Amino acid sequence: MEVKIFDDYNTMSATAADIIIDCVKNKPNALLCFPTGNTPLLSYKLLAEKKREHHIDFTKCFCIGLDEWLGVPPEVKGSCSYDLHEHVFEPLGIKELQIHLFTGITNDTKAECRTMNELVRKHEGIDCLLAGIGINGHIGFNEPGSDISMEAHEQLLHPTTLASGQNYFRAATKLEKGITLGMAQVMASKRFLLLANGTPKAAIIKTALEGEVTNQVPASYVRRCENSIVLIDKDAASLLENKWN
Ligand code: GLP
Repeated sequence: MEVKIFDDYNTMSATAADIIIDCVKNKPNALLCFPTGNTPLLSYKLLAEKKREHHIDFTKCFCIGLDEWLGVPPEVKGSCSYDLHEHVFEPLGIKELQIHLFTGITNDTKAECRTMNELVRKHEGIDCLLAGIGINGHIGFNEPGSDISMEAHEQLLHPTTLASGQNYFRAATKLEKGITLGMAQVMASKRFLLLANGTPKAAIIKTALEGEVTNQVPASYVRRCENSIVLIDKDAASLLENKWN
């Protein structure tokens, strides 16, 4: 694990965008995994700008989504599918043929998970996976207490996730379960970028980086991952005691 602490959200986001671009330059047919949430929004904007400015070719890469709210249709703003199209795929000009996302509307989540697992295997793993961190330490929807050895799975959501989840929707939305890539796939990624900014993330960043490595805090497993880079701004880093930079 490498930890990089930035003066602000802007430089943190620019670095995340640069790492994704390097990944695509080195491997044009890379498998990329994108999360939703507020944290990566500026990285996505800068990624699209840098792509245009430097003529980076994304036509051969393949993209998957980290997770999805079960029961929420893809045309609803706030679903991961809607938000990833709006903030990532449309700005980057990624075509539908280059995308596979979990669907929130399914009565066979096992089949959904199988399809995703097979796709990841067919690509020989994820080349670059970006993730935010929940204030409860979740990665994607790998909630506190999740089995770290799992691949894609359905997950009953933690009360904190349910409460903060409402913020992504225009109207109150029934949320109960999610579907997510598992920590086994996150940790096996050739690049695992964990992003966090702002003081509300300071306590969980301290727990994840300096507390015990435990499945009660799935993000703490970033430390067991050789290929991980934690990108945080100085506010999110404000409670850290070790010298990381
Ligand atoms: C949601 C997503 C997660 C994301 C988290 C943090 O729960 N499913 O993948 O990491 O929110 O979001 P934010 O970046 O808005 O803090």
